[in-house]
Amino acid sequence: MTLTSTSLYQNGSYINGIWFTEGEDKFPVMNPADGSEITSLCNASSQDARLAVAGANASLAGWRSRAAKEKSSLLRKWYGLIIKYQDDLARIMTTEQGKPLAEAKAEIIYAANYIDWFAEEAKRIYGDTIPAPSSDKRIVVIKQAIGVVSAITPWNFPSSMITRKAAPALAAGCTFLVKPAAETPLSALALATLAEEAGIPAGVFNVIVSNKSREIGEVLTKDPTIAKFSFTGSTEVGRKLLEQCSSTVKKTTMELGGNAPFIVFEDADMDAAIQGAMQSKYRNAGQTCVCSNRIFVQAGIYDLFAEKLSRHVQALKTDNGLAADVDIGPLVNAGAVDSVDRLVQSAVQSGATVLTGGKRSALGACFYEPTVLSGVDATMDIATHEIFGPVAPLIRFDSEQDVIDMANATEFGLASYIYTRDIGRIWRVAEALEFGMVGINEGIISNEMAPFGGIKQSGMGREGSKYGLDDYLEIKYLCMGGLDK
Ligand code: SIN
Repeated sequence: MTLTSTSLYQNGSYINGIWFTEGEDKFPVMNPADGSEITSLCNASSQDARLAVAGANASLAGWRSRAAKEKSSLLRKWYGLIIKYQDDLARIMTTEQGKPLAEAKAEIIYAANYIDWFAEEAKRIYGDTIPAPSSDKRIVVIKQAIGVVSAITPWNFPSSMITRKAAPALAAGCTFLVKPAAETPLSALALATLAEEAGIPAGVFNVIVSNKSREIGEVLTKDPTIAKFSFTGSTEVGRKLLEQCSSTVKKTTMELGGNAPFIVFEDADMDAAIQGAMQSKYRNAGQTCVCSNRIFVQAGIYDLFAEKLSRHVQALKTDNGLAADVDIGPLVNAGAVDSVDRLVQSAVQSGATVLTGGKRSALGACFYEPTVLSGVDATMDIATHEIFGPVAPLIRFDSEQDVIDMANATEFGLASYIYTRDIGRIWRVAEALEFGMVGINEGIISNEMAPFGGIKQSGMGREGSKYGLDDYLEIKYLCMGGLDK
């Protein structure tokens, strides 16, 4: 890999300010575009994870007591370095994760923006005073860093899912340790290199790279000295981690799976709806928790929408993410292709029609053809499971109430999208949808200024925005008495 700064390319965990790059036990990092091994990294053990927990505990008092302005300024330096090295960071990301380079660059900016945002918010952790029940008392509320925070982050957004957690944690005065997905550790280590260069003190930001997910996960969810655990990943894994956190009653933020409805009403601006569907469905080859998973189209425009969408999808260029003008890169591994194909074939067997794609791509084991399916029924497996691939299932609906009922008939409640020009309908449907986020005539809803998160079994807590700090703060109430004497 050709990089401007070779120091961004690390070989092992960053724990308590030390790089763990020696050792016999290694695990490979693969390039999904061609199946080649990029490198192999030192495989951290549970003992290494415990060392990281000890380091984060030892650094907590020093970091927590720094002035807000000082923490803010260190975060700003980290942000500046990420911006400076954005091209290298994007290249690392595309090589290990597969997404097209333009999308990787956009993710690096997205990741950096969380640091920029929370560098500002660090200075705005305000308390409160409350009128007391008697004249000899005063009630004061202060907010304090929750303590040591651990996190497990996914492979689909290798950088931004880390900064979205680490930036508010550090801004609040917490110390932080993360285990990134074993598929995408290089992006996480590059962030650690830049955190170190920015002057963030040893032990404040730690990255544990390993393919021993269960072993490390046990430490990060059960250690009694960790106050909070934050996770982005599937609902299935989230349930298990929540159970593990319960033994020490950890605070948790859970950003789990989704099954986003994308609803197009007959009065919608058709071109805007097509553009929104393309963005929300095919971003990162369909591998995001907020990707539209069920595209509901009202009967009167269904055929036209299906035809237009198929034409746009046929024009997508699929290839290695490093090639020029690529829209769709490989999926993360061959297993991901198997599960996408299983859902497509099962839908076809149940009566769906392939308008375009519908099969594995000849480009390699990790590629799947961008696909549009029509005649999908809301009860088919493809509509009840998170697809996590470049497949758009189109479901016909008749009335507003029917589509609200179908959209809500899921255990998930992360993102949803509606396209309509009727202002009354916008309010009715947006309020009726049981989802934490609603895109209204908009297919891209994620940014650092907005509260990202879900309801129902899509999780708890919010990331980004002014609300994103709350998850890393404890409220303490001070009652001052005897003031009349
Ligand atoms: C995710 O897929 O978990 C995050 C998507 C986003 O931040 O837009």
